[in-house]
Amino acid sequence: MSYQLLKGKRGIITGALDEHSIAWKVAQKCHEEGATFTLTNAPIALRMGEIKKLAEQTGSTIIPADATLVDDLTKLYTESMDVMGGKIDFVLHSIGMSVNIRKNIPYTALNYDFYNKGIDISALSFHKMLATAHKLDALNEHASVVALSYIAAQRAYPFYTDMADIKAMLESIARTFGYHYGKSKKVRINTISQSPTKTSAGGGIKGFAEFYEFAQLQSPLGNASADDCANFCVAMFSDLTKMVTMQNLYHDGGYSTTGISQELIEKI
Ligand SMILES: NC(=O)c1ccc[n+]([C@@H]2O[C@H](COP(=O)([O-])OP(=O)(O)OC[C@H]3O[C@@H](n4cnc5c(N)ncnc54)[C@H](O)[C@@H]3O)[C@@H](O)[C@H]2O)c1
Repeated sequence: MSYQLLKGKRGIITGALDEHSIAWKVAQKCHEEGATFTLTNAPIALRMGEIKKLAEQTGSTIIPADATLVDDLTKLYTESMDVMGGKIDFVLHSIGMSVNIRKNIPYTALNYDFYNKGIDISALSFHKMLATAHKLDALNEHASVVALSYIAAQRAYPFYTDMADIKAMLESIARTFGYHYGKSKKVRINTISQSPTKTSAGGGIKGFAEFYEFAQLQSPLGNASADDCANFCVAMFSDLTKMVTMQNLYHDGGYSTTGISQELIEKI
């Protein structure tokens, strides 16, 4: 059902790689809710071509941008404002990649070049997106910016290795930039801490299938799906949440505040 919660709003959605991506679902829901937006991803991801289907479905323009490059981000904002005819009301940062995870390197023996790359792609890119928007004055007052995070920012999850530290940094950027951008332009910035979700990034983590099942049994409501996450993003982009900022919001079916579930006790 559509409530037209985003009618008349203009957005930028990063990170839709294929139909499993959380950003893909967010784009579909934002379209249903009446928003117009541009889609962006790293040039290498765009060459895979899948995103064109999403652009056709949602009537969106694709603007390539490597989120680690300020020049690309500057072009992303200026072209987005050009194409859509005005300043931006919402931005989704849905970007994450760790070479250490991909290569199964344990936390105690991280490769620091890979670590730096992970920080640049998955956390600094958020600061760069915000700083570029700030410099260009590309966001409308009360615009809403959301980045996706994971509970390993607060608790130890051995398989999440360097991404745990990187997500902690991402959440800190949301708070600190949220203060500055809130003061200057009433822009709000939040992170959503999402359940494990079956996507390319999620599936790249060793032991993901087992952990997905564990979280499913631990959460009173079960794991939140990518579709559920997309609904939550729509709510965060809408005016109904206009006083929410600088928060890390758990979207996990109650996982983060459950000690242990009866189902897990019985299984063990
Ligand atoms: N899948 C999960 O279990 C889960 C749980 C919590 C949070 N998250 C977070 O959700 C976000 C989206 O991940 P996803 O699970 O949808 O996986 P995904 O692999 O579909 O999305 C990750 C995206 O990052 C993009 N990307 C990588 N390098 C980039 C760069 N230099 N510039 C621009 N884009 C780049 C990829 O092309 C891809 O589209 C990530 O931040 C991830 O950490 C995922």
